[in-house]
Formats: sequence, structure tokens, C-alpha cells
Amino acid sequence: MSILLAVSGWDPEAWRARLIRVLPRHPVAILGESFDRGAIRYALSWRHPPGSLSNLPGLRAIFSLGAGVDHLFADPALPDRPIVRIVDPDLRDRMSEWVVMQALIHLRQLRRYERQQRERLWKDDPDQPRAAEVNVGVLGLGVMGMDAAMKLMGLGFPVAGWSRTPKSAGIECFSGPEGLEALLAWTDILVVLLPLTKDTRGILNASLFARLKQGGRLGGPALINAGRGGLQVEADILAALDSGLLKGASLDVFEREPLPADSRLWAHPSVYVSPHNAAISSPQAITAAIARQIEAFERGEPLQDVIDRARGY
Ligand code: NDP
Ligand code: OXD
Repeated sequence: MSILLAVSGWDPEAWRARLIRVLPRHPVAILGESFDRGAIRYALSWRHPPGSLSNLPGLRAIFSLGAGVDHLFADPALPDRPIVRIVDPDLRDRMSEWVVMQALIHLRQLRRYERQQRERLWKDDPDQPRAAEVNVGVLGLGVMGMDAAMKLMGLGFPVAGWSRTPKSAGIECFSGPEGLEALLAWTDILVVLLPLTKDTRGILNASLFARLKQGGRLGGPALINAGRGGLQVEADILAALDSGLLKGASLDVFEREPLPADSRLWAHPSVYVSPHNAAISSPQAITAAIARQIEAFERGEPLQDVIDRARGY
């Protein structure tokens, strides 16, 4: 009854150490070590090398070590087993912290005051908008998007959102193509917490930016994307920033990660870049969530948060 840790770009030992504590009855193998493939029941993946989960005859389930599962579908040989994603308050709250911080950065013109501080310039702007005057549109009203929306509302931002299926929540919710048009035309700050699927790839493009509300109390719309880099067309973001169609952008995710050193996004005066760490998967929190699932599954209970392969998230 073993667990296979198949990660790239992360330190697997930190994960193994936590897994051994929370699931002491399950030996943990790390991809690259020699192990008995027939003994593996659960694979835990973060961007595993394609093909590396094949030939595991006893495999019962695959766990993504993050909320997103697009990295799993990058493997054409992904075994046909249930895929479980992480739904956990630790990950959710970290994301909302990042989103709220970025919304406030744009609202309170942080870049301008950082520059003024460097220049020792004491210059106030009497025309400071309040949160209540800046509309936030959230694309993706799932675990992350809904929590961020509620926390932004708590700060006084008018918030509305868009999802695939209609929702009734504590905010105005749109769905479908017409719903997207209505939301964009209303939005001053666009927060993107969509999964990357065949339907959402490249959605953040020149055409979408042109449909955002222009002017507004921030002087133009701002884009905040922590969903996935594949949602955005970076050339279009740069062109929109240069032309003034976008006033600013906060990006945690990129078409290519790490963001190449020669990307113009790094030094653009209106862009905030973070290294895909809006919500990190903490080994402590995430292994505890996985342990609860595995223990319940072994008692005969169904797995929770199993993704729908046809839908892609
Ligand atoms: P959920 O699956 O809970 O929510 C996804 C939301 O997107 C749902 O509201 C869904 O609609 C909506 N959606 C999906 N496809 C479409 C579509 N074609 N059109 C409109 N809406 C759509 O995911 P989470 O909230 O947990 O996570 C969202 C994403 O955030 C993850 O997939 C991941 O890519 C990213 N993420 C990034 C992190 C980071 O550190 N940068 C950390 C964690 C997550 P519906 O409700 O109708 O199904
Ligand atoms: C996730 C991520 O999907 O960190 O959880 O990107």
C-alpha cells in the first residue's frame, strides 16, 4: 500500500517527511528511486514527467498536489484512474490574501507612491478613489474565486462574477457568452481564477481587454491573473498596457514558467510579477488533506473532489 510522489520543480523530501507523519502505514516512494511498481496505490503529482505514472497496476487514484489539474493532462499516458484535486482552506485563504493585496495595490496606486518614495517626493493625490467606486469582476467562481470575491466585498468593492454554470451567491453572478460581455463592460479590476481547459485557453486576449470598461476611477482597467499562464496571451497584455487599454496588471502565472529573463513583463512599470506563488501548496496542510481522503477511501468511503475528465477541471 505505497504512495508514489511524482513531482518536478519541488523538493520531494519535504513532502515525504510530512506524508510519513500523517500516513505512517504507507511507505512513500519518490520518482527516480527504485521501488516496486506493483505496490503503488496512490500517486501524488505536481507536474510529473509524462509517462511516469504508467505501469502501476495497483494504482487506485491520482492526487494533484495543487488545486489545478491541467498539469496532469499534459501527460498523454495519464492512467485512467480517479483524479482528486486539492480543496483546502489553507490554499484558498492564501489565494484570497494575494488577490486582495493586488486589488489594493491597484486601488491605492502603490507603484506611484513607491516611485515617489524613491524620489523623496512628498506629493499627495486628492483624487483617491474608494473601494466602493471600483468594480471588481471575477472570472471563475469556484473555491478560489468565490472566497476572493467575498473578501473583496468585505473591503467595500462592488463585486460580480462569471462562471460556466449559473450561480446564485451573495454576489451578482453571470454565465455564458452574454454574461461575460455584461461583466466585462462593468469591470474596473478583472480577477481571473479560472482553470486552464480547452475552453479557457487564451481567453485573456486583445479582444477581451477591448471589452472591459474604459476610463473608470482607476483611469483604465487592471488585470489580476492567478489562474494559469495558458489563459493569457502575454503579447496582447503588453500591447494593451502600452496602448492604455489596460492600466495595470498583476500576474502570478505565465505562458512559460519560470518567466523568461528577457520577458518585457519583468520590467514593465505597470506590471506586478510574482513567481506562481499566489497560493503555495504547503506540505503540512496539503498532506493532511490527502491523508484524510486516503484514510476515508480505505474505510470504503468515496473520494471527494474528484475532477470531471470530460470537463477538464
Ligand atoms: P474550481 O474548479 O473550484 O473553480 C473553477 C471555476 O471556474 C468554476 O466557477 C467554474 O465554473 C469556472 N469555469 C471553468 N471553466 C469555465 C468556462 N469555460 N467558462 C466560465 N467559467 C468557467 O477551481 P478553484 O477555484 O479551486 O481553482 C481555480 C484555478 O486557480 C485552478 O484551476 C488553478 O489553475 C488556479 N490556482 C492557482 C494557484 C496559484 O498559486 N497561482 C493556486 C491554486 C489554484 P462552474 O462553477 O460553473 O463549474
Ligand atoms: C495550484 C497551483 O493549482 O499552485 O494549486 O497553481
